[in-house]
Amino acid sequence: MLDFNLIDSEFKKYVSNFNFDDEKISLKYYHTLEVANICYEVAESLGLSNEDKDLVKLIGYLHDIGRFEQVATTNSFKDKELDHANNGVRILFDEGLIRRFIQEDKYDEIIKKAVRNHNKYKILDPVNDREELFANIIRDSDKIDIFRVRTKYYHNEMKLVPTPKIVEEVKQGHSINLNDIKNKSDSILCVMAFIFDFNYKESLRVLKKKGYYNDFLNSIEVSDENMDIFNEIKEQLLKKLEV
Ligand SMILES: [Fe+2]
Repeated sequence: MLDFNLIDSEFKKYVSNFNFDDEKISLKYYHTLEVANICYEVAESLGLSNEDKDLVKLIGYLHDIGRFEQVATTNSFKDKELDHANNGVRILFDEGLIRRFIQEDKYDEIIKKAVRNHNKYKILDPVNDREELFANIIRDSDKIDIFRVRTKYYHNEMKLVPTPKIVEEVKQGHSINLNDIKNKSDSILCVMAFIFDFNYKESLRVLKKKGYYNDFLNSIEVSDENMDIFNEIKEQLLKKLEV
């Protein structure tokens, strides 16, 4: 059994090394706490054991540990400059921070693969069924809270004309590769299309219950010329929540 009083205080202690007045730091701090709880909720609705629910929650606490150093060194969330997931694995397993959160090492491979793959377009590591389960849950849980974060902290505009290739991909029900994004409207469509990348209908139910997807869609400022295409895509995407 994991000790979440210890885990919570070790996480706070780690974040206290960074400038909490920087909104990028505080945003990721609160995001982490939210994701840890969402992880537990998703794990519960998947009917996992108590041991596995705790492990999922721990992964929630650790998934973005590499963000804080990324912000401190690059002043951004740009993974092209410093991939925060790979950086998290380095901090946890090369520097050994993991042992402050959990003494035993029997879950190390599961945690490592879940953290490393949480921000990738697809899971890149070879994974067994169990490793895949935990990687899938953190990928779903992270996306659920990203809709809340995007609504609360970002100015979501769809004013430029989106790239036709991106529009086509979304219409076909595909998630978007970050490398294809050319303008701000594309990046809005990319976040909207996260809905295609959920692994479990249980995760979609948690998202629906929280209302974060609708809030995000409602927060988008759409120019008149983009309104028709936006509404068409919106209708299609909202069907994904009918689970
Ligand atoms: Fe992340």
